[in-house]
Amino acid sequence: MPTFRSLDDADVKGKRVLVRVDLNVPMQDGKVADSTRIEEIVPTIVELADKGGKVILLSHFGRPKGRDPKYSLRPVAAEVARLVKRPVGFADDCVGPNAQAAIAAMKNGEIVCLENTRFHPGEEKNDREFAEQLAALGDIFINDAFSAAHRAHASTTTIVTASKLLAYPGRAMKAELDALEHAFEHPQHPVTAIVGGAKVSTKLELLGNLLTKVESLIIGGAMANTFLVAQGKQIGKSLVEKELVGAAADIMNRARALGREIVLPVDAVVAQTLATNAPSRVVSLDQIAADEMILDIGPRTIEHVISVLARSKTLVWNGPFGAFEHEPFDNGTVEVAEAAAELTAGGKLVSFAGGGDTVAALNLASVKERMTHVSTGGGAFLESLEGKTLPGVKVLLIPQPSQTAAG
Ligand code: 3PG
Ligand code: MG
Repeated sequence: MPTFRSLDDADVKGKRVLVRVDLNVPMQDGKVADSTRIEEIVPTIVELADKGGKVILLSHFGRPKGRDPKYSLRPVAAEVARLVKRPVGFADDCVGPNAQAAIAAMKNGEIVCLENTRFHPGEEKNDREFAEQLAALGDIFINDAFSAAHRAHASTTTIVTASKLLAYPGRAMKAELDALEHAFEHPQHPVTAIVGGAKVSTKLELLGNLLTKVESLIIGGAMANTFLVAQGKQIGKSLVEKELVGAAADIMNRARALGREIVLPVDAVVAQTLATNAPSRVVSLDQIAADEMILDIGPRTIEHVISVLARSKTLVWNGPFGAFEHEPFDNGTVEVAEAAAELTAGGKLVSFAGGGDTVAALNLASVKERMTHVSTGGGAFLESLEGKTLPGVKVLLIPQPSQTAAG
């Protein structure tokens, strides 16, 4: 059973505490447009500062090619300061003399944010020397960036493996790991997964892993179309990945062999164009005209999906049902989200959701607060659901005696 060090036991007073956070947040007109990821890390930052640590924030931001002022973390650090309600200093580099000087000047309980780690090619190359330079800035390492933990980069992995720094998951990271454990390692059965989104091709591994874990797999979004074609349905000009029809059939056969239920749409909302308020109609699946496309699930499907949730104890959700960015094609996702939130609030369901689109859809449905756990991770959440141990999480594990004996 893998274990992590607990922040409860970390002795941070007077120590230089390197905290890897994910400040890769959406911006608009030079301002942070969505602070969710920052809100999540506030408790860790405040706790460390209150305990007298010198809190040094490390993060990437965007995908710059070298140093580029457009990708400076300075405005993001200002938003961190606003949310932690105390000053946050800034150093215009994450290694070298400026970073060192900023850290040397810190008093206990102060917070400094270092400039974008991706200004150095060594970050994404996972360069050992760069990782050592980062590690030399601290006495202890805390990773609170679950959403970046699928990247094997210098500031997420080698900073630990190439140094003697003790590594701890931060509070937000721990909450994510606990939620995944509750969903997958000892969940309350029956477990249902909803997998939606546009493409089967990006979710084949996910579907394969989920089949072994869940009693019911609900498939939504445009990716369901490929399954409908595999069932021989005529679905007009709906988005389909023709080359994956065989893979979809395989998944359905495997589900049957394993005794797992796959839930597919039985009706749909169709339109001739994908646009907000495009004229649309509700049809059963044998009534789709050649010039129509499926843009959402229909009322019978919604009812069926909700009945599956009502007999489930655990829900894992990744991906919307329809083209939720365009009203009224958000209806299926919103109605199912409301039902999931209500079951959760009533203590009948433990619900986990994650992924960029999924979180946007849950926000749209105003249900985020009523879900058990909503992950900040996009790729990281998906890879976790695929059954992978993320590189940034792996380095936080305390080596077990059996592992060291084998190595
Ligand atoms: C994300 O937003 O997905 C994480 O911050 C990782 O960023 P990346 O996809 O650019 O590696
Ligand atoms: Mg990403």
